[in-house]
Amino acid sequence: MRLVLLGAPGSGKGTQAARLKEHLQVPHISTGDLLRAEVAAGSPLGLKAKEVMARGDLVSDEILLGMLKDRFSRDDTRAGFILDGYPRNLAQAAALDALLTELGQKFDAAVQLVVDYEKIIARLAGRAQAEGRTDDTPEAVRHRLAVYEEKTAPVVDFYRQQGELAVVNGEGTLDEVFARIVEAIQRGHEVG
Ligand code: AP5
Repeated sequence: MRLVLLGAPGSGKGTQAARLKEHLQVPHISTGDLLRAEVAAGSPLGLKAKEVMARGDLVSDEILLGMLKDRFSRDDTRAGFILDGYPRNLAQAAALDALLTELGQKFDAAVQLVVDYEKIIARLAGRAQAEGRTDDTPEAVRHRLAVYEEKTAPVVDFYRQQGELAVVNGEGTLDEVFARIVEAIQRGHEVG
């Protein structure tokens, strides 16, 4: 299974990807996690990304594509993957398409998790207190949501027009959301 998980910041992509990884037995590729690992390691790439991420802006397409190509060069992605956090703009969607074509692959489904923004703000405020992620400040969260609307929402529309989008309600318990995603993948069409 080759799955692309879409959704606003805090919609639950990472949480559900961790569960789907066990269910589908494929690797979870989170571009946010890859970037945070670079920041933690203090690598040149991490130093470039650090401030951009803290503000809630997008790191450059060039850096992201390099990281993604590197990750996809590993054998474990041949059987499938759950891609979380990429693509985030139309240029990245085109780059993903080109990369998968080069690898002789095609993703099976793009799943969008939909959560009311008020709930998202509450979730991320909770995480800010619990974990202190630098981009979970109220200001950065507002900016991340605006960036999502401007840059990433067109990707969702693009996949919808291509008939590749499954829309899933991301509100409710973790089990409920997980069950909806699994159902959406199986049915291959939009569910509420
Ligand atoms: P990234 O790490 O991708 O952050 P994000 O998209 O903002 O996503 P989050 O991790 O905040 O949310 P999520 O949807 O994964 O939800 P989660 O499961 O964590 O990116 C971070 C930054 O890296 C970007 O801003 C950008 O700078 C850079 N970046 C990454 N990819 C990039 C790209 N492709 N191009 C350019 N730049 C890129 O859940 C959130 C919280 O809600 C958690 O506390 C969780 O416990 C809770 N929660 C989850 N589900 C539920 C539920 N059902 N009910 C109640 N609470 C829940």
